[in-house]
Amino acid sequence: MTDIERIDQLREELHRHNYNYYVLNSPEISDYEFDKLMHELQDLERKHPEYYDENSPTMRVGSDINKNFTQVTHKYPMLSLSNTYSETEVSEFYERIRKSLEGEDFEICCEMKYDGTSISLTYEHGKLVKAVTRGDGEKGDDVTNNVKTIRSIPLILYGKDYPDNFEIRGEILMPWLVFEQLNKEREDNEEPLFANPRNAASGTLKLQNSAIVASRKLDAYLYYLLGDNLPSDGHYENLKFAEQWGFKVSQIMCKCKTLQEIFDFIQYWDVERKNLPVATDGIVLKVNSLKQQLNLGYTAKSPRWAIAYKFQAERALTRLNSISYQVGRTGTITPVANLDPVQLSGTVVKRASLHNADIIEGLDLHIGDIVYVEKGGEIIPKITGVDKDARFMIGEKVKFITYCPECGSKLIRYEGEAAHYCPNETACPPQIKGKIEHFISRRAMDIDGLGSETVDQFYQQGLIKDAADLYSLKAENIISLDRMGEKSAENIINGIENSKKVPFERVLFALGIRFVGETVAKKLARAFKNMEALEQATLEELKLVDEIGEKIAHSILFYFSNEGNRQLVKRLKEAGLEMQVSKEDLQRQTEKLKGQSIVISGVFAHHSRDEYKVLIERHGGKNVGSISSKTSFILAGDNMGPSKLEKAHKLGIKIMNEDEFLTLIE
Ligand code: IVH
Repeated sequence: MTDIERIDQLREELHRHNYNYYVLNSPEISDYEFDKLMHELQDLERKHPEYYDENSPTMRVGSDINKNFTQVTHKYPMLSLSNTYSETEVSEFYERIRKSLEGEDFEICCEMKYDGTSISLTYEHGKLVKAVTRGDGEKGDDVTNNVKTIRSIPLILYGKDYPDNFEIRGEILMPWLVFEQLNKEREDNEEPLFANPRNAASGTLKLQNSAIVASRKLDAYLYYLLGDNLPSDGHYENLKFAEQWGFKVSQIMCKCKTLQEIFDFIQYWDVERKNLPVATDGIVLKVNSLKQQLNLGYTAKSPRWAIAYKFQAERALTRLNSISYQVGRTGTITPVANLDPVQLSGTVVKRASLHNADIIEGLDLHIGDIVYVEKGGEIIPKITGVDKDARFMIGEKVKFITYCPECGSKLIRYEGEAAHYCPNETACPPQIKGKIEHFISRRAMDIDGLGSETVDQFYQQGLIKDAADLYSLKAENIISLDRMGEKSAENIINGIENSKKVPFERVLFALGIRFVGETVAKKLARAFKNMEALEQATLEELKLVDEIGEKIAHSILFYFSNEGNRQLVKRLKEAGLEMQVSKEDLQRQTEKLKGQSIVISGVFAHHSRDEYKVLIERHGGKNVGSISSKTSFILAGDNMGPSKLEKAHKLGIKIMNEDEFLTLIE
């Protein structure tokens, strides 16, 4: 078999395995075997760039090329549906249809209303050519590369009986399990959480880096076929055809003839939807015949032949007993309502988030009030209202606290911010513990064997007051603590000892300076090379560093202006932590690419794209996403896209191959 024949064979096989796994949920081969085939195909495609195919299964892994989205005008505008929350309005809709169709028989197709972000996919000759978001309904963003990473969306269709040209619309969703996992990771990294799977899905779809999109495991259900030569007059029947072409179409669809059948469907799925892997927020009712749809027509905003019945957000009434205030690592105060336990969507709710002082004020909350608690799409329940009729004796009005509940410091509220803060960074217990927890976390010092409970225990016992105290702990100090065996004590001490090898940039991140995340820490380490230089840096020097602006620079100055922080850093240095960039790193670093903006494009033989990124940064250059007149040169591998090539030629930008680049930085 020639390489080309093998490429064809692999592409076909991988498309099929992909469909079996992501659409049918019934894989035939193991993940390992799948990955092996994918790697074989990647290698062969690299060897034969002339055999590039934009719909190859290898496109599923995404790429880290930054690309701003281009706006595309929808061929058919993406309308919305009129919403209703009441069964009466469903009956009225049904009656309206019956009257307008003047006695013709009709069927209503009932299906789930998926709560994600909508997408329009265009297929030509059986291939996915474009994926566009809803945008404003007229124009949306071209997110084709990101959508290609969604495994349940076919890149190439099955069979032959699909129209040459058609659009199919549907919903992109983040399954609950993926959403929960993602938020857990974000919590660990102190990144803001997504409020619900819908926000997570739409946020993910708009990411510039499709390799990250690929890692987020989005799913998609398709529910609307548009085009001139559709196989049937029935909406339901068309979707069944689409299923045969490889699309993931919801199995929850029912053609109803009577109003009673519609209500049965609604009532059944209002309960049963809790067992679905993705979020839904209602039922969509559509007149099934396309001819009748055409007859019924559209208003300016929505079709007359469809309506969405939205489920009542689940809510419960319960009593507000008190408010607690939590203090976070950076001193943010979060008010939490303590409630009489109440059953809501299958769990018992005892607490609900109140977010900030403005929300409390807006609700006009009093202790003892009977309040509405809702779960909606969010995971943390919230209070959405007060049943004022149930107020027999009005309790004390809830007033936001003015002093920190943990340390007694007067709270502050920055101009334009909703949150209150406790400013006592160095002596407020939850802030201290939070800082130590951040210090030991995986991405910072990564201390094996130590978790937040142990930190809490050490703190309670007076063994540690800050991160530097960890380095004077001895096994005999901790062995006597609760649930601490000899082995775990030893593990912890070894973990602490090993953390002394953690590179400087992570030590810098571990300090927990506000606004200094991993990336900023890396940039600072590279620019200043050691802690001393950073401590002495002026505002101007800090701002000279790539991506460091006024806000971050001030925060760094503020951190080092505090005597307590300077002492902490000094003690960490004495404990033997890395306070400078390693010799190897320094040696490897040059300024050969200083001031140059470099675009990486194509597939490489000697290093991965990520490795090239590191090399560019190490030699003082900047990796940028898209070609502009400011681009210094393009580091091009095989398969550089034709539009990029054209743009580069037009702007007269030099194209450098891998070998030339490696010689340049040698
Ligand atoms: S049909 C012209 N079917 O609801 C009708 N929409 O408010 C086109 N949605 O933007 C839409 N599930 O994102 C249709 N089974 C379903 C749906 C659905 C969710 C969303 C869609 C649309 C919005 C309409």
